[in-house]
Amino acid sequence: MPEPGTRVVLGVGAGIAAYKVCELLRRLTETGHDVHVVPTPDALRFVGAATWAALSGHPVATDVWTDVAAVPHVRLGRRADLVFVAPATADLLVRAANGRADDLLTSTLLTARCPVVYAPAMHTEMWEHPATQANVSVLRDRGSIVVEPAAGRLTGADSGPGRLPEPAELFEVARRVLARGALAGDLSGRHVVVSAGGTREAIDPVRFIGNRSSGLQGYALARTAVARGARVTVVAANVALPDPAGARVVRVGSAEEMGKAVREAAHEADAVIMAAAVADFRPVDYRTTKIKKSETAEPEPIRLTKNPDILAELVAARPGGQVIVGFAAETDDVLEHGRAKLARKGCDLLVVNQVGEHLAFGAADNAAIVLAADGTAVEVPRGPKEALAEVVWDLVAARLG
Ligand code: CTP
Repeated sequence: MPEPGTRVVLGVGAGIAAYKVCELLRRLTETGHDVHVVPTPDALRFVGAATWAALSGHPVATDVWTDVAAVPHVRLGRRADLVFVAPATADLLVRAANGRADDLLTSTLLTARCPVVYAPAMHTEMWEHPATQANVSVLRDRGSIVVEPAAGRLTGADSGPGRLPEPAELFEVARRVLARGALAGDLSGRHVVVSAGGTREAIDPVRFIGNRSSGLQGYALARTAVARGARVTVVAANVALPDPAGARVVRVGSAEEMGKAVREAAHEADAVIMAAAVADFRPVDYRTTKIKKSETAEPEPIRLTKNPDILAELVAARPGGQVIVGFAAETDDVLEHGRAKLARKGCDLLVVNQVGEHLAFGAADNAAIVLAADGTAVEVPRGPKEALAEVVWDLVAARLG
């Protein structure tokens, strides 16, 4: 958890999404962080200095000529524990990537030695342009965390990738990066895939066989990987949670859909974590119309057939160096079943947790033992799912070398 009182510089670029950043600022100050807002001069066209000053409790400047005696362009960057730039416009990214120092924000970026996070927001064409992508690569190569924009409604009637993620999710990124401090960004340059939630196997158009997985652990893994600098693809089966900022979310329903989406994404991934609860069986026959109570005197039995094991398929087809992690939900003889499952599935790590009526499913916390193919075991005591996520990524990062 970040220490209250940590110092954050909130850099604001000249984009309409600046209005959402007021809410991010609010969350940061309400959780005890000391925030200095540094807008670019044009950012003030969208949200004025009075708003930033009132919400942060500090005066606001955009140039290096205000309060010169205090040398603000050096002081702000040097003393910051985190610089968070949102929205990062295409112009701001190019100036940051080139090391310009033509306003207070870019000067601060040059003097900061703490983790730096950029949350870009712009129109899809601008985001996807090779020039912007090249600037993003430069910033990532230098150790900054660039949070992928969300897809959705943009300014006007447009829709597509380029939207600033929701403030609550950006706050999660800031909180996690602050918690890791100098260790933030250790998954930078990596692409990771996380499956989350629980698959549903259709019986007829209104009924399915499902399970109790909420997706909380998978989403905690995704959020943590974003905050550690990875490019993250989440394959989410029936998850009713807000999209983690910076992750590409692919929505699926059944085990078959999940298998297809995971295989596609895993193709060029450095690590794959199968945190989803995948149905082992599906009905043999899918009825295209609703089964009626009045059809027969006795209900027809539902015949089941086995689903392919996605995890085992991934292991069999893995590209060199890819790290694969499975999850095992067990109700009894947890360790014994876990070791047997690790050997059977052939993955690098198996996160074994005990589930039951009120354990793990839908709960905010979790306890687990992470078994490794090399015979080692790491016990993670009961705590937030985020803490388990950190341990899993530590073990993955060590195996990525
Ligand atoms: N899994 C998978 N594809 C399936 C079933 C499971 O990829 N069809 C993955 C899960 O995502 C999880 C791991 O395999 O990472 C363990 O799943 P689990 O169902 O507990 O293992 P099984 O081998 O099916 O063992 P059992 O049901 O006997 O406990």
